Amino acid sequence: MTRKGIILAGGSGTRLYPITIGVSKQLLPVYDKPMIYYPLTVLMLAGIREIAVITTPDDQEQFQRLMGDGSQWGLSITWLKQPRPEGLAQAYLLAEEFLAGAPSAMVLGDNLFFGHGLPELLAKAGAREVGGTVFGYRVADPERYGVVDFAPDGEVRAIIEKPEVAPSRYAVTGLYFLDGTAPERARAVQPSARGELEIVSVLESYLADGGLGVEQMGRGYAWLDTGTLGSLLDAGNFVRTLSERQGQQIGSPDEVAHMLGWIDDAALEARAKLFGKNAYGAYLRSLLG
Ligand code: G1P
Repeated sequence: MTRKGIILAGGSGTRLYPITIGVSKQLLPVYDKPMIYYPLTVLMLAGIREIAVITTPDDQEQFQRLMGDGSQWGLSITWLKQPRPEGLAQAYLLAEEFLAGAPSAMVLGDNLFFGHGLPELLAKAGAREVGGTVFGYRVADPERYGVVDFAPDGEVRAIIEKPEVAPSRYAVTGLYFLDGTAPERARAVQPSARGELEIVSVLESYLADGGLGVEQMGRGYAWLDTGTLGSLLDAGNFVRTLSERQGQQIGSPDEVAHMLGWIDDAALEARAKLFGKNAYGAYLRSLLG
């Protein structure tokens, strides 16, 4: 079965109040694009064209105005609502019908990935039909994340959510490739002490079957967090620095769709027209060679 995508873009973003009182966090700009464009293009680079976007009920309309049904990028977007933020694993319950037994790649709507070789890494994870794959990334502050506990032989022993004392420096990023059993595993999860259906409980279930692979995203990758005011600004500066130095966009679904042949020149030109004379429009036009 073809792998489907999920973008989890719910949550109240309280750490960014007052900004996120009026607008969803995942719609905020990361330099020159809405935040959700970045995880969206990651799924696209994984070759995924059927994508469910999960938002709060209140915010859904704004996301729809931005992304529509996805056909402008050769995608099919299904819109789902998460009434209350009750944990990442809940996404698999909300998306169960959409997935209809298919394997999935779920990405958090506020996670930004960048790195040479990313499509190959995604392809490797996508090729695994049974079990799941997550990505370990070295960070200075692992306690803020799900953390990989490695046995002395390098095997993954456990994944621990926000441990007081981190067993390693490797955080689990917000990108999860899981097989078709994810919804059924999520259904067996009990709420944690913080009242959430934790994604690590689903991952533990895969670990218990010996079915979880942890791929390292090495030091040549950027995995950026946008959860705090400072990290949001840092992510924007990162995107600006790289894209302006290279003259290449980061996280453009228009460019990626065209590159993958999911939309033709005429469709890209139509998109470019929307942006008029601004820099994004000019960039899209420059791709038409
Ligand atoms: C969530 C997950 C955590 C993961 C992180 C990645 O944390 O629970 O395991 O490392 O996303 O962004 P949260 O954003 O809920 O604090």
